[in-house]
Amino acid sequence: MKPSRRPQNPLFSSGPCAKRPGWSLEELDVSVLGRSHRSKPGKAKLKEVIDLSRAVLGVPSDYRIGIVPASDTGAVEMILWSVLGARGVDMLAWESFGKEWVTDVTKQLKLPDVRLHQSDYGALPDLSRIDFARDVVFTWNGTTAGVRVPNGDWIASDRQGLTICDATSAAFAMDLPWDKLDVVTWSWQKVLGGEGAHGMLVLSPRAVERLESFQPDRPLPKIFRLTKGGKLIEGIFEGDTINTPSMLAVEDAIDGLRWALRVGGLPQLIRRSEHNLEIVAEWERDSKWAGFLAADPATRSCTSICLRFTDPEVTAMGPDQQAAFAKRMAALLEKEEAALDVGSYRDAPPGLRLWGGATIEAEDMDAVLPWLDWAFAVVKAEMKG
Ligand SMILES: Cc1ncc(COP(=O)(O)O)c(C=O)c1O
Repeated sequence: MKPSRRPQNPLFSSGPCAKRPGWSLEELDVSVLGRSHRSKPGKAKLKEVIDLSRAVLGVPSDYRIGIVPASDTGAVEMILWSVLGARGVDMLAWESFGKEWVTDVTKQLKLPDVRLHQSDYGALPDLSRIDFARDVVFTWNGTTAGVRVPNGDWIASDRQGLTICDATSAAFAMDLPWDKLDVVTWSWQKVLGGEGAHGMLVLSPRAVERLESFQPDRPLPKIFRLTKGGKLIEGIFEGDTINTPSMLAVEDAIDGLRWALRVGGLPQLIRRSEHNLEIVAEWERDSKWAGFLAADPATRSCTSICLRFTDPEVTAMGPDQQAAFAKRMAALLEKEEAALDVGSYRDAPPGLRLWGGATIEAEDMDAVLPWLDWAFAVVKAEMKG
């Protein structure tokens, strides 16, 4: 039976993610649009993003926060290019974004001393094998596998290397132990539902020390340069961006951050997202056809919730047929306007992915699950017919 109730907001994409409840373009303050980002009010807006991000996330006062070009990818790559090579590096990857950073380090930077800790979709690599005398690069939440690290206990407090953490689908939905992290990055279009464009780059004092003491023997394009004459360009961390940002995206980021404070700050954002995961987990326990891609419940993401097929007739099919099955389900859900953009990532195992970040309302998560059951039943009947 087709469910009678649709989610009020059927947007479950894992990026760009749904806008905050009640968002409206008209509510954005557009007074600085058309003005220089280096004007006094323009720079104040950029600084406001930095200050609000610090306030919401509880970033320590001695950590720098900068707004950088090219979204999360820009933030990650500028730091890889700027600091790696001083030590050996341990690279962790368990889904496609982590693998991108492995490609950067092995095929582009061609660093000589790299150890890879990789695992297949659904599991984490063995975290006990990481050597913190070396630099360590990892994603906190693997968006395309729905697998996250359970906490920061595996990270050495007395490390000699730097920990570089891509937290783009974790920040604002998961606790990040700042004392264990030297570099943290994210983009705006994830948990707070902002716009793609700019990346956030957080540096611990140890990361700054590395930037100021190590000069990699490689060319750095202007948009990667964080130092000048061997000193950190402090302006980047006060709102003097390297190049021109979208002030509309900036305004929207401020809107998301203010909403975060209004709803109760980080604890409440985490609670909203974890509650969305609980709703799916309760449904999954009784599901005859779907299961979490993340095998260990402690590693299940509360933002990118990835589901695989468990129905024996579907799992007996080859990967291409399973992918076609999932695609057909996603198309039906879209046609019904019950759930948009819920197909799994193109390189991930076939299945569905629901975003459960803080901007997703629990009622909508609750309402979408019967639609998944309906779409599964329809496609299975089509397959048999
Ligand atoms: C873990 C992770 N890293 C990096 C990226 C790339 O982010 P962006 O498109 O903001 O550069 C994504 C996007 O989904 C991601 O989930």
